[in-house]
This record gives sequence, C-alpha cells and structure tokens, in this order.
Amino acid sequence: MNKQEFFDRLAASWDEEERPDIYERLARVVSLSCLRGGHTVLDVGTGTGVLIPHILRAVGERGVVVAIDISREMLRQARQKGFPPNVHLILADMQRAGFQPLVFDRVLCNAVFPHFDDKERALYEAWRVLRPGGLLVISHPIGREAVNRLHAQCRAVAEDRVPAAARMYELLTRLGWSDVKVIDEPEFYLARARKRELP
Ligand SMILES: C[S@@+](CC[C@H](N)C(=O)[O-])C[C@H]1O[C@@H](n2cnc3c(N)ncnc32)[C@H](O)[C@@H]1O
Repeated sequence: MNKQEFFDRLAASWDEEERPDIYERLARVVSLSCLRGGHTVLDVGTGTGVLIPHILRAVGERGVVVAIDISREMLRQARQKGFPPNVHLILADMQRAGFQPLVFDRVLCNAVFPHFDDKERALYEAWRVLRPGGLLVISHPIGREAVNRLHAQCRAVAEDRVPAAARMYELLTRLGWSDVKVIDEPEFYLARARKRELP
C-alpha cells in the first residue's frame, strides 16, 4: 500500500481519532505561526482540514488558504465541512506542487513533514513559493516521540520519522533558512524558519 492509499483509508475516521485537546494544540501552532489578517497561507497535507478553522480565524475574510493533499478521500472529508470561498482545497503533492513563486506569506506543514520522501525537495518548494520574510512552520501537536511511535506501527509510514531538534535545525540552516527555532517538548513539536528578506 502506498501512502496515498494509506491516508485514503484513514480519511473517514480521521477526525474521530483526534485527541480531545487537539484544538488547544492546533491553536498554539497557529499562534506560533504569527499569522496576520489578509495573509495567504499554504496548508500542506491538510487532511480533513483540521487546521483550516484556526488559520481562518487569524487571517480573516481578506486572507486566503490554499490547502493541499495527496489523498482524494481526505480532501473529500474536508470539502464536506463547507469552508468559505477563500479556502481552496487542491489535490497536489508538495514535492511537485508547481505553484507560482513568491505567493505565500506562510507555509504550514502540520503532521506531514515525515511523510515527504524527498524532504529537501519539499523544503525547496516551500522556499520557492514563500515571499521574502515569510515563515515555514513544521508542527506535530502531539510531539515527536508520540508520532514516531505511531508511525512505527504502520508499515506504509514506518520509516517516516520526525527529526530530533538538532537535526531539524541543521537541515533548515544548511538549506539557507534564517531565524530557525525548534521546540521539541515531550508533547509538542514545532520548527519555524524564515525565508530571508532580499538585501
Ligand atoms: C498525518 S495526516 C495530517 C493531516 C492534517 N494536517 C492534520 O493535522 O490532521 C498527513 C496528511 O498529509 C498528506 N500528505 C502526505 N504526503 C504529502 C505530500 N507529499 N504532499 C501533500 N500532502 C501529503 C496525507 O495524505 C495526509 O492527509
């Protein structure tokens, strides 16, 4: 089973299996993403769109959310939620999404980073589509070890691991990101990095 099929199968029950405190955790992700009214945001691996209401609260009606996923079934669940017209749900793979360059203020990767087979390629895409000064956020609201334990139980994603803070810091810094910050708490993980402003 490939990853797309794996996530297609999980889609119908995805929301039921979320932790009861997931909303507070997602609110913390959005707060650390420093979103502003009118921002254009790329929500990568949106799944059933759990992060979208939080993003919408922060960016308002003038903001735009482009939410992508490789799983048709996840997107079908997201579509049923009836998001407003400033939310665009698109079937796309982050590693080859092909958006215009310099269009997003934020690229948010919630609970998806380990699933990129080519992580440097996905990070390059995030860099390419972000405006100078824009932020990339890679988050795991239940924490790195919980995610890695969960993935280890499923063959399709068994090798998909959240990197420890030092490794994530090294990767982002080596690829040219600035202001890199990694929070790696027992039950919360978030890496944030800025695309440099033009000199
Ligand atoms: C663990 S789920 C997280 C979903 C959602 N972000 C959340 O927090 O509930 C990971 C999602 O990422 C999607 N995904 C995996 N690889 C992807 C890729 N290369 N590009 C876009 N989406 C991807 C999967 O289909 C799945 O819906």
